[in-house]
Amino acid sequence: MSNELMAVYNRAPVEVERGEGAWLHAADGRVFLDLVQGIATNGLGHTHPALVSALTAQAGKLWHVSNIFRIPGQEELARKLTQNSFADVVFFGNSGSEAVECALKAARRYHSVNGAPERIDIFGFAGSFHGRTYAAVNASGNPSYLDGFGPCLPGYEQFLVDDMDAIEAAIHRPTAAAVIVEPVQGEGGARALDEAWLRRVRELCDETGTLLIFDEVQCGMGRTGKLFAHQWFEGVEPDLMAVAKALGGGFPVGACLASAKAAQGMIVGVHGSTFGGNPLAMAVAGAAFDIIAAEETLANVRDVSAHLKAALSELVARYPDIAVDVRGKGLLVGVKLVTNNREMMAIARDHGLLIAGGGENCVRMLPSLLLTREEADEAVVRLEATFAATRTKAAVPADAAA
Ligand SMILES: Cc1ncc(COP(=O)(O)O)c(C=O)c1O
Repeated sequence: MSNELMAVYNRAPVEVERGEGAWLHAADGRVFLDLVQGIATNGLGHTHPALVSALTAQAGKLWHVSNIFRIPGQEELARKLTQNSFADVVFFGNSGSEAVECALKAARRYHSVNGAPERIDIFGFAGSFHGRTYAAVNASGNPSYLDGFGPCLPGYEQFLVDDMDAIEAAIHRPTAAAVIVEPVQGEGGARALDEAWLRRVRELCDETGTLLIFDEVQCGMGRTGKLFAHQWFEGVEPDLMAVAKALGGGFPVGACLASAKAAQGMIVGVHGSTFGGNPLAMAVAGAAFDIIAAEETLANVRDVSAHLKAALSELVARYPDIAVDVRGKGLLVGVKLVTNNREMMAIARDHGLLIAGGGENCVRMLPSLLLTREEADEAVVRLEATFAATRTKAAVPADAAA
């Protein structure tokens, strides 16, 4: 392990070398079935040929010019995103956190330019994750991401998803600016919010002029079997939306999508990014978009998700001492465990399977949207071996194991 890297990650003992589709190869020859995919980021798996060729073709032409020039790939991707969503305009950044940051800034600016600068309150939810910038950690409010970083930013507050009375009262405050929510919580443990909840929050925002921000950094871009997760629910649209991860298929890019109304305050000079939307990112993201938005890909997500979840539910029923629930939407799947999820991830690795952790002691599966039924079956075989090994380990008395 390198001592020269800032010690903010607890890294798995795998030195990665190359990837292909659903498979990740380590330098020591081990091959893993990768259901993490850079945490829902390689939406089309590792090194998809269309993305490799888009990137290499662009690399020979032009890398970077900054946003002082027109960038055709940016205009083209913005057109694709707006034609396929509620949005009228798009701002490109480099990450999910930056997309969230832009949405939060746009929300406050909207009220400010509409004569209500006192409307600064941003309401988030327990179990959410919006990234690691100051605004993002304040929006999610997770104490472990705020500790030691000085005072919390003013105007951020969190509520329990289930406490609709408190949410309602907050949205009715004269200082309410925006609600930020993930339609399917990712890091929080693959928790899908239901239609009635999202519809009610949309109504409350409409009643009060509060803006609604959907964070679809993890659950968007095809992950749930629709291009965007909220599109499962007719008419439940946000005013602003953060997208990243699978948007670039593994290349760093993020986007803040906005309705014309919500973008009113975002005029020349109020926001920007040096790298955001550069030609390399736009070439890869443009190619990724075409494949992800294709009905064939979205249908595959729905089909493989149903297949995988059925097999996982059956597995969980046979191992009630190990796992209790299968949840999530599309190919954002969570398995809630009885035993420790961090230990389970390590045991899964020993069985050639990569899975991610999640809140509420879940393990998460966020595979390529192109995962096949056969690969899903292989994942369940490896997870069953993992469960069996976990059961055996638990049966050995602690002093015998020592
Ligand atoms: C829902 C959600 N929002 C925002 C982020 C932050 O994205 P990034 O790490 O690219 O800044 C993440 C990252 O996991 C996420 O899952």
